[in-house]
Amino acid sequence: MLATNSIGAMEQELNPWLAAEARFDQAATRLGLDAGLCKVLRLPSKEITVHIPVQLDDGRLEVFTGYRVQHSVARGPGKGGIRYAPDVTLDEVRALAAWMTWKCAVVNIPFGGAKGGVICDPRLLSEGELERITRRYTAEILPFLGPERDVPAPDVNTNEQTMAWIMDTYSMHVGHTATAVVTGKPLDLGGSRGRPEATGRGCMIVAQEALKHLGMPIEGARVVIQGFGNVGGMGAKLMAQAGFRIISLIEVDGALYNPNGLDIAALAAHRKETGSITGFAGAESILPDEAMHLECEVLLPAARENVITSLNAARIRARIVCEGANGPTTPVADDILQEHGVFVIPDILANAGGVTVSYFEWVQDRQGFFWNEDLVNERLKEIMVENFNRVVGYAEKHSVNNRIAAYMLALDRVAFAIKLRGIYA
Ligand SMILES: NC(=O)c1ccc[n+]([C@@H]2O[C@H](COP(=O)([O-])OP(=O)(O)OC[C@H]3O[C@@H](n4cnc5c(N)ncnc54)[C@H](O)[C@@H]3O)[C@@H](O)[C@H]2O)c1
Repeated sequence: MLATNSIGAMEQELNPWLAAEARFDQAATRLGLDAGLCKVLRLPSKEITVHIPVQLDDGRLEVFTGYRVQHSVARGPGKGGIRYAPDVTLDEVRALAAWMTWKCAVVNIPFGGAKGGVICDPRLLSEGELERITRRYTAEILPFLGPERDVPAPDVNTNEQTMAWIMDTYSMHVGHTATAVVTGKPLDLGGSRGRPEATGRGCMIVAQEALKHLGMPIEGARVVIQGFGNVGGMGAKLMAQAGFRIISLIEVDGALYNPNGLDIAALAAHRKETGSITGFAGAESILPDEAMHLECEVLLPAARENVITSLNAARIRARIVCEGANGPTTPVADDILQEHGVFVIPDILANAGGVTVSYFEWVQDRQGFFWNEDLVNERLKEIMVENFNRVVGYAEKHSVNNRIAAYMLALDRVAFAIKLRGIYA
């Protein structure tokens, strides 16, 4: 348990790597995981550091540092995003790679966990410079990439275009077009239908399952959403269509409240026009802090990490917290939410819709046969519902909260694969 009575302790509470470790330890202990396997799973299987020389537009030569970490490939190729940011560290990439191992295992898709990053500030780089960084980074890590080895995806400050450059660079080296080497590609280059909506859709599906599980109606269920980006925006749109009532939306520049439900399409149009959710005629403005603590059936944090901490967890009045963002709740807050009887759908399950449809993209690329959107959505639902039920069943069977249950299920699946394969020597 982390202490909470000093600034140092607060820093410790907010450290996502310590948070992930705390959950790993708790789950491993509950599972009675073999000490040797614990050692194996604590460390990434491979860490690659590359120094990338790149000619800048003004003729100068600059060197950027990049990483790719493969945490586990026991259940399949590594899977995980590549981020471009000035504060990327090997430690961060390492922790995010492990996180991907657990996320893929909890929804039972045949991928391991990986993550990559390049230390750079994309705001200061031209499109041409970003392309050269991406291509040289890809060339440097190329021996470790491949549809059967490691399959990157977009993450912070990378996008469809970045994936197209990686795919092209890899293809030039292997001598044929290899679309399955990355996911999150443009639709015209082997991307999947339904991918932009997938994470928000996955959140909606597990929120519906949670309500059913608790014997509560979906129609009219009050929802508060933090973040109106990819996850929160899609989540809001799909949940409103499914009969939920989005009573509040929280963004960086303010929050909105309408007890009868916000008109999400009108709000999206307003934001597109003005660049902000504030000033929207269909709702009253409210303090973001107040909005986070409104009474509701579902709170969907879908913006950033560490928004439910020891400082505010006791004030959360949601029956269900559906974690669209990665790491929105600290371990100390977990305990408080549990004491207050809040039903938490942990991030590694709730936001796994994105990686699940990435898996579908990889499958379609390898098949060379593309599915229509209904089929993508139907298969996504099947996976989310099945694994929601497994996590909840595990929690009940082992008398633990849903988060520890999700980690236990994931650890169990990965450890089982390692045991079955045996240790190559
Ligand atoms: N996009 C995906 O497929 C995906 C998959 C899994 C997990 N996630 C996680 O979901 C979270 C959101 O990702 P995204 O892709 O929607 O990002 P995004 O950048 O599209 O959207 C994030 C939104 O949150 C808002 N925001 C930032 N800080 C805020 C704050 N303090 N209060 C209120 N709003 C705030 C931003 O203005 C932005 O509109 C991240 O934690 C991400 O790691 C995303």
